[in-house]
Amino acid sequence: MNENLQKIEKSALMEIETTETQKELERIKVKYLGRKGMLNQILRSLKDLSLEERRQIGPQAQKIKKILEEKINLKFKTLTIASTEQQKFLDVTRPGKKISFGHLHPLSKIEEEIRQIFIALNFSVVEGPEIETEYYNFDALNIPPNHPARDAWDTFWLRSNQKEQLTIDKKQLTQSQMSNVKGQKLLLRTHTSPMQIHYMETHQPPFQIIVPGRVFRYEATDASHETNFSQVEGLMVGENVSLANFKFIVEKFLQKLFGEKIDFALRPSYYPFVEPGVDVYMKWQGGWLEVAGAGMVHPHVFKAVGYNPYQWQGFAFGFGLNRLAMIKYKIPDIRLFYSGDLRFIGQF
Ligand code: FA5
Repeated sequence: MNENLQKIEKSALMEIETTETQKELERIKVKYLGRKGMLNQILRSLKDLSLEERRQIGPQAQKIKKILEEKINLKFKTLTIASTEQQKFLDVTRPGKKISFGHLHPLSKIEEEIRQIFIALNFSVVEGPEIETEYYNFDALNIPPNHPARDAWDTFWLRSNQKEQLTIDKKQLTQSQMSNVKGQKLLLRTHTSPMQIHYMETHQPPFQIIVPGRVFRYEATDASHETNFSQVEGLMVGENVSLANFKFIVEKFLQKLFGEKIDFALRPSYYPFVEPGVDVYMKWQGGWLEVAGAGMVHPHVFKAVGYNPYQWQGFAFGFGLNRLAMIKYKIPDIRLFYSGDLRFIGQF
């Protein structure tokens, strides 16, 4: 019996020690100290023992009962403190942590805004390939090989084995237009103007379109120049389209993008595919920043797409989207857009 009591004490202490929940501790308490628990069973069976055995086992069983009661009470307190700590950790009344969501890049934002402005002005939005042939990027725009104006667009040329990447829909082209694609040197478009040619080859006037898209230039970067930036091309062709219509559209566009009070200026400029040509300037950081090139579509361009230049007239423009975003969001350096700096991106 003596040995039995020692075993009970040992295993009870071990279970109390290792338990981690109050529920489990309750179960141990009932198992050893409950009315039908192990110790009470021994105490109840004392009456069947001899007087000597009773004298020896009785007090010992009482002593173990007391020890276990104390240990269990202590463990209860420890577990209660631990669970309060845990509750502190799960405190549902604590202010929540801010979840950061992804959002549109400032360039995507302004592009979407520009699309909506022109849609409201009854323009259609079309897109074109970023890989172009020399013909569409230069020749058809009245910039033949060796024309000095080609220097204005420093070009990323592609290796000839990359010809297959041309993404324009060749099925739509006539035989002669096909020769503008076949065997041509490929390049990353330096402006969105080639889409003027693609569109006019497959559509008849009157129409008005814009073409937002990325363009690429092999040139040194600075605060207002990038190698990879976006433009929004515009083209309106009809029988009575004039430079006055252009000025009206540009003014309305800039007012909708920047608010009624805008500071912009038109200055004469030269592009081989327009005549006359103008540049659009806006106030930026105390000076003037060129935001677009524009002008009346050159008759040579109309001839290249099979339009009669005596019947049709049109204006075209190409806005630098990054520069518009710089003015709108007060960004001091164009290189921030693709810097990947989250402190910058997070502000939009
Ligand atoms: C052109 O690209 C002509 N295709 C624009 C045009 C279209 C003229 C239709 C006439 C008719 P330009 O190279 O100036 O022109 O570029 C147009 C605009 O793109 C500039 O006014 C400027 O806002 C922006 N831009 C030009 N180069 C850069 C550059 N490296 N980084 C950022 N923006 C640029």
